[in-house]
Amino acid sequence: MTLLSAALTSLLAASAVQAGPISRRAAAGLNAAAQAAGLEFFGSATDNPELTDSSYMTILNNSDQFGQITPGNSMKWDTIEPSRGTFSFTKGDAIADLADQNNQKLRCHNLVWYNQLPSWVSSGGFDNATLVEILQNHITKEVTHYKGRCYHWDVVNEALEDGGGYRDNVFYKTIGEAYIPIAFAAAAAADPDAKLYYNDYSIEWSSTKHQDAVNIVKLVQSYGVKIDGVGMQAHFTVGQTVTQDAMESAIQDFADLGVEVAITELDIRTTTPATYDALTQQSTDYQTVVNACLAKSACIGITIWDYTDKYSWVPKTFSGYGAALPWDDNLQTKAAYDGILSALGSA
Ligand code: G3I
Repeated sequence: MTLLSAALTSLLAASAVQAGPISRRAAAGLNAAAQAAGLEFFGSATDNPELTDSSYMTILNNSDQFGQITPGNSMKWDTIEPSRGTFSFTKGDAIADLADQNNQKLRCHNLVWYNQLPSWVSSGGFDNATLVEILQNHITKEVTHYKGRCYHWDVVNEALEDGGGYRDNVFYKTIGEAYIPIAFAAAAAADPDAKLYYNDYSIEWSSTKHQDAVNIVKLVQSYGVKIDGVGMQAHFTVGQTVTQDAMESAIQDFADLGVEVAITELDIRTTTPATYDALTQQSTDYQTVVNACLAKSACIGITIWDYTDKYSWVPKTFSGYGAALPWDDNLQTKAAYDGILSALGSA
């Protein structure tokens, strides 16, 4: 071997050592790693305005990264039935078509929520029988329109107050808690194959609200109506994220009722501009959530609430907070991305 070829050989060997794990990691992606670890999917929320951002779409369309997508807004009541009996599916269809094109599962979100509810419903002054009819009609029309396309439906979203107890929304005020089983029954009748979820936040650890969510599952079951899962939204704050033990035990409470759990809207916000230490802690916090899900067979998948800080809801809602997602504003991965991948990879 000449001196030159010896030098070349050792250079190549060195670059192989450096490139090996990096290229393997880039090729794997979050969804590929999640599925290898036994989950059904790793997914992301998205929204119609972002679909014109080609750099964003290149990453979203990669099913090695995301095996599932959720429409962040476009299947909600105000978009789908803005006035009584007038249905508009165009925006929701765009997200459903995207999922089809990318061979990604679709979590449809959501059918009944007090927010993004048009005033013709919330302030209509309807009596019990009429509101039940409006609720059933909305659910039947929307679920039938998407029949066969929704892997999951978030049937009822955030029925509980922050500290527990039913939210005093128009459905509860007019119909009482029965609006929840009525909603699940209508969804089950319209698409028997979709998995039907109750979805909420602050139910990821033992608390009054968590126990009330457990009771919602029991309520639906007591009516003999199908409920398949509970969505833990998992909107957390860096350094205040639930512990792995607490989350595992919260998941187990639902598993004990025979329903599955999905992490449906994961993000972990911090004050901005984010410091190096905060982003390092954020990576640890993401790993905690992933590890809790992996430790419980009832936990079947994880969805982040969009994948990049560029399109996060957080700064618009929590002034001074942001940087909540694994990709930054420039669509570059952060420490959180490596943390999630490493947690999935060590499963
Ligand atoms: O559609 C109007 C548009 O016509 C108007 O010009 C614009 C002006 O601000 O507002 C648009 O509506 C916004 C809507 O998103 C669609 O972009 C609302 O102001 C804005 O409040 C709304 O925020 C959404 C939020 O739900 C509403 O509560 C977020 O994008 C969405 O990510 C967020 O998602 C929720 C989940 O559904 C349930 N769990 C919590 C999660 C985060 O809040």
